[in-house]
Amino acid sequence: MPVHRDPALEALVARVSAAFARAFGGEPAIVVAAPGRVNLIGEHTDYNDGFVLPAAIDRHVVIAARPRPDRIVRLHAADIGAAGASSTFNLADIRPDTEQRWSNYERGVAWALQGADQGGGAAYTLVGMDAAIAGDVPIGSGLSSSAAVEVATAQAFQTLSGIDLDGVQRALLCQKAENEFVGMRCGIMDQYIISLGRRDHALLIDCRSLEYRLVPIPSGVRLVICDTNKRRGLVDSEYNTRRDECEAGARALGVPALRDVSVEQFGVREAGLPEVTRRRCRHVITENARVLEAVVALEAGQLARCGELMNASHVSLRDDYEVSCIELDAMVEAAWRQPGVFGARMTGAGFGGCTVNLVEEGAVEAFRRDVARAYTRATGLEPSIYVCAAEDGVRLLSGA
Ligand code: GLA
Repeated sequence: MPVHRDPALEALVARVSAAFARAFGGEPAIVVAAPGRVNLIGEHTDYNDGFVLPAAIDRHVVIAARPRPDRIVRLHAADIGAAGASSTFNLADIRPDTEQRWSNYERGVAWALQGADQGGGAAYTLVGMDAAIAGDVPIGSGLSSSAAVEVATAQAFQTLSGIDLDGVQRALLCQKAENEFVGMRCGIMDQYIISLGRRDHALLIDCRSLEYRLVPIPSGVRLVICDTNKRRGLVDSEYNTRRDECEAGARALGVPALRDVSVEQFGVREAGLPEVTRRRCRHVITENARVLEAVVALEAGQLARCGELMNASHVSLRDDYEVSCIELDAMVEAAWRQPGVFGARMTGAGFGGCTVNLVEEGAVEAFRRDVARAYTRATGLEPSIYVCAAEDGVRLLSGA
């Protein structure tokens, strides 16, 4: 086992390996870890061909797996129920599991890798496997635990089946699994950053060209994630509605995607749009500009400016895109009042889940205490607060 600097990850690897031994007997051949993610800025821009600035975080989904001589995949989820939960499928006939719904992410990835619907397109031959899985990415909090499961599964199949896929191809196949097998029309951000993240960096991703640039997280600041512990309701239906509204906006503006409209061009043309479409477009178009400016600010060490852009992103998501909620607003407002906070905003799809905060290192402990207290006073809910480091994307921890 290679040395990990991360004790939480080590503990997770030990837990998954023990679950593997209990479920299947013996040792796994490989262990794979995929991180969760947090988005610094660039929300609801990825499916508009725009820009995002996420980082992978030091919370993981770990899979321990061993190949099988047949085409059966047996999955054991160590985190579900007292004894864990199991789901088995045949690679020759992959269908959704209506009972063990968690397994649909793994099934979808196998389906996408095999090119089930591609009629002669790129299709890979997979070997069966026994796999145990567990994680410490909070589930349903908007930190992409499901994309981490997808990317870890893809990496496990790739390694055991000897498939050569680069990080972008892997991300696209995992997105396809989520869009077409699971049925959530997400953009590319989550699978991309989980596939290609880099320790101590955020990635500026161009969601049209699928190219990225590394943006170092300046020293002396921490990424603090505050989970409202308000589970995300409405998210799927509202997410799809927002996508439709953006597509309608792009059509009305006569462009392939909202990415193609500058803030100045929008200023000239917005009056012709219906009110709701106008506000949705304004969010996306100004958010793209904020991402690019935030990268310049971060690279110049102008943390205050970066923070202002994060705050403006929250206001735009709250008022124009209407994907915030009382709990997210309360958490962000508590952070805005706190000393040593450069910026705070909701992160992820919205309607609950987490905020992301750029906090001066020396101010983190007071932040934890005071923001938690203010949030509880405002909402009656206990938050969870995670001080995170930017991590590498998916990794093979052992085996070849
Ligand atoms: C979810 C989706 C992403 C992205 C964000 C909003 O996390 O999976 O593709 O659209 O919402 O920025």
